[in-house]
Amino acid sequence: MNINGEWVGGELDTKDVVNPANGKTVGTVPNGGEAEAEQAITAAHEAFGPWSELTAYERAGYLKKLHQLMLDNQEELAQIMTLEMGKPINESRGEVNYAASFIEWFAEEGKRIYGETIPAHVQGKRLQVWKKPVGVVAAITPWNFPVAMLTRKMGPALAAGCTFMMKPSGDSPLTAVKLMELCEKAGFPKGVINLVTGSSSKITKAIMENKKVRKITFTGSTEVGKLLIKQSADQVKRLSLELGGHAPLIVLDDANLETAVKGVMASKFRNAGQTCICANRIYVQSGVYDAFVEKFSEAVEQLKVGDGEDESVDIGPLINQAGLDKVNSHVEDAVTKGAAVVTGGEAITDDGGVFFQPTVIKDVDPSMVMMQEETFGPVAPIQKIETIDEAVSFANDTPYGLAAYVFTENVSKGTQLIEQLNFGIVGWNDGAPSAAQVPFGGMKESGIGREGGHEGIEAFVESQYVSIGMN
Ligand code: SIN
Repeated sequence: MNINGEWVGGELDTKDVVNPANGKTVGTVPNGGEAEAEQAITAAHEAFGPWSELTAYERAGYLKKLHQLMLDNQEELAQIMTLEMGKPINESRGEVNYAASFIEWFAEEGKRIYGETIPAHVQGKRLQVWKKPVGVVAAITPWNFPVAMLTRKMGPALAAGCTFMMKPSGDSPLTAVKLMELCEKAGFPKGVINLVTGSSSKITKAIMENKKVRKITFTGSTEVGKLLIKQSADQVKRLSLELGGHAPLIVLDDANLETAVKGVMASKFRNAGQTCICANRIYVQSGVYDAFVEKFSEAVEQLKVGDGEDESVDIGPLINQAGLDKVNSHVEDAVTKGAAVVTGGEAITDDGGVFFQPTVIKDVDPSMVMMQEETFGPVAPIQKIETIDEAVSFANDTPYGLAAYVFTENVSKGTQLIEQLNFGIVGWNDGAPSAAQVPFGGMKESGIGREGGHEGIEAFVESQYVSIGMN
């Protein structure tokens, strides 16, 4: 852990970090709790005044150093990530670049936090809106993107003048430790960035009860997000929430099937299907259903499963046994209810790893659990549809609204279809829509607020309206 510029926690008991590719312990982190969270919050609170008083250009200078250090240390960050959570090494390298791009984007975006001058309704007044950093920010991040979810929060918070405390997932904290080392090398003043590892419930309790924390930014499950909304009510803490998704992917009769297959592969199998925006439910119009199933299954059969450290591997392990059990139960449920496995369908648990074969399942219907809930695994269920209205109705029939995908070559059909979809992110003939400069976030129970883009920094500033009377 790093609190107020010091590496601490050596006296505490530790938590093991386990490689899901083989069940071996790859490291340990201190099992911090309320006391350590309190210390981190105090440090961030004390650092807030001086940090927020720097110019945006000075803050950008620190962030740009961090950006460069991340690129220089891409390989080490990627290796740690793959070891602790199993992501194929090439994806880990890609995630480091993606993560660094948030730091670069927000270093610049901090210089564009504009206030407003508003025409007055009477003589002798000047009306202005000033922008102020929200204060101490606590970030709680998931295991599936161990570095990008941190920098997508850290970049805008620091650029806006907030100070920062991070609590990474217990399943992938070692990447955060490396990132913290790089923050230290970048020379951020002490207390501006703090890292606490350990008990999620104890650390979150301290964050929620401490009035000095003004903003929580969280990526994780909708269930935990709802809990945070309730817990934040007492102090009306600001919240940004990136929660669960259940992305529909729609392939219309006039789609270019090669583009569609490429898009589904990119969306579905990134991180072994363990992303909030991955395609979970694939709806294919009847005219291309058989051809799509065939082409897609051929591509899926080429995927290589194995330890992410092997350069040739496409699909790494799931995060843990509970993740594997969930995928297994979704597949069993679908098969019992009449769906057909075209390829895959089995768990692979040799040598202590928790893997699942990349799987295509056809003839699914809405009664099956995998069409109702996020599977979070490398399983692609395909349902036949007849009309666009049917596609819209199935796609929107969910409490989630994070991402959706549409494949059609017809501009008016695509436009009309997307206008009816209630999702915060849409990939049209594109299975990989994420980028630093665009707003990422969901409608409905998929969250509150947007990360990335110019909206990403607005989440870390408050408007202060100032009415100036002129003598
Ligand atoms: C996520 O789905 O958890 C994040 C994926 C992304 O940023 O592209």
